[in-house]
Amino acid sequence: MLSFGVLGAGVMANTHIDGVLGNGADNVKYIGVYDEDLKKSGTLAEKFGMKTYCSFEEMLADDEIDGIDICLPSFLHEEFAIRAAQAKKHILVEKPIAFTPEAAERIFGVAHENGVRIMVAQVLRFWPEYATIKDYIDRGELGDIVTIYAARLGQMPSWGGWYKDPDKAGGALENLILHDIDFLHYLLGKPKSVYSVGAKDEYDIYNDVLSVFKFENGANVYVDGSLRMTVGYTFTMHMRVLGTKGTMEFLYKGGENVDTKNSLSELKIYHDGDGGKDVQYTSYDAYGKEVSYFAACIESGKETETVTEESVLTVLNSIVKANESLITGQVYAL
Ligand SMILES: NC(=O)c1ccc[n+]([C@@H]2O[C@H](COP(=O)([O-])OP(=O)(O)OC[C@H]3O[C@@H](n4cnc5c(N)ncnc54)[C@H](O)[C@@H]3O)[C@@H](O)[C@H]2O)c1
Repeated sequence: MLSFGVLGAGVMANTHIDGVLGNGADNVKYIGVYDEDLKKSGTLAEKFGMKTYCSFEEMLADDEIDGIDICLPSFLHEEFAIRAAQAKKHILVEKPIAFTPEAAERIFGVAHENGVRIMVAQVLRFWPEYATIKDYIDRGELGDIVTIYAARLGQMPSWGGWYKDPDKAGGALENLILHDIDFLHYLLGKPKSVYSVGAKDEYDIYNDVLSVFKFENGANVYVDGSLRMTVGYTFTMHMRVLGTKGTMEFLYKGGENVDTKNSLSELKIYHDGDGGKDVQYTSYDAYGKEVSYFAACIESGKETETVTEESVLTVLNSIVKANESLITGQVYAL
């Protein structure tokens, strides 16, 4: 059993701990929290029966803590991950680990030097419906992949004012469809090129973006992301995979963000003429699963094969180039 401390007491800190408890994971427990807003950390500590710290240094000095789960605003990940590694704590860090591959490499470098494990919380790789799509593709059920359309559509988060600052959160590419772009790399391997178009929002951020990737295996991929949907448009996740033998489609709509209690969620597979069938899969909390997977890899000494450091760097390179394409209108080789 590993003991984690959570850094940040906001939305994702709650989500990770809820997920671990919801899945009944028995290899990891959250024992402490630090947030610069001591009121927020107090509330989280009370909710989950954890201790609070008055500073990050105090949290790092706690010998009972094996790992730090970094759920801070994105621009703070590099500084705090490096400090956690130097204090010999394992690190789970929310996405994006950083905005550039160079920054991510710096973090990985310090983790390696200090002999600690690090994993980026790329949650779609653990998401039951997305993982089921990967399983069907890997088993050849869809044949060769021709085209994938992926979408993630919602509004600017109503919490955390930092999301409105592109230096702190990035735009739709880094902040939102990084999820889909990461998962598409997981499905298809290395991309060959990217082209993006987009529009800026009232905060001067490219928060409405369509990127087109061509992959080395010949597949075309369209990734559609928006944080400026009309208020009232329900949060949407969508993936449609067209293969030479069939089509698979996942559609989720619910709430302002992921609202699992009040949502529409369907996963279907179509073969010629059958009208489509519901796909059966086991449901669980993806956030809880990623945390317990990381803990299991630490305990067993196994690599985090589901989210490798190499994949994180490749995806960040694709995001940087997709962003350049937004500005220049050029197609970029990857
Ligand atoms: N995987 C997902 O589905 C998903 C969804 C949303 C957000 N995220 C990512 O999770 C991370 C956190 O996002 P969030 O929505 O939980 O943010 P949030 O604003 O809800 O929480 C961040 C917390 O960090 C605290 N904080 C800020 N600066 C601090 C500092 N210097 N020291 C200590 N505490 C500090 C704030 O007080 C706040 O409570 C971001 O990187 C975001 O991109 C991931």
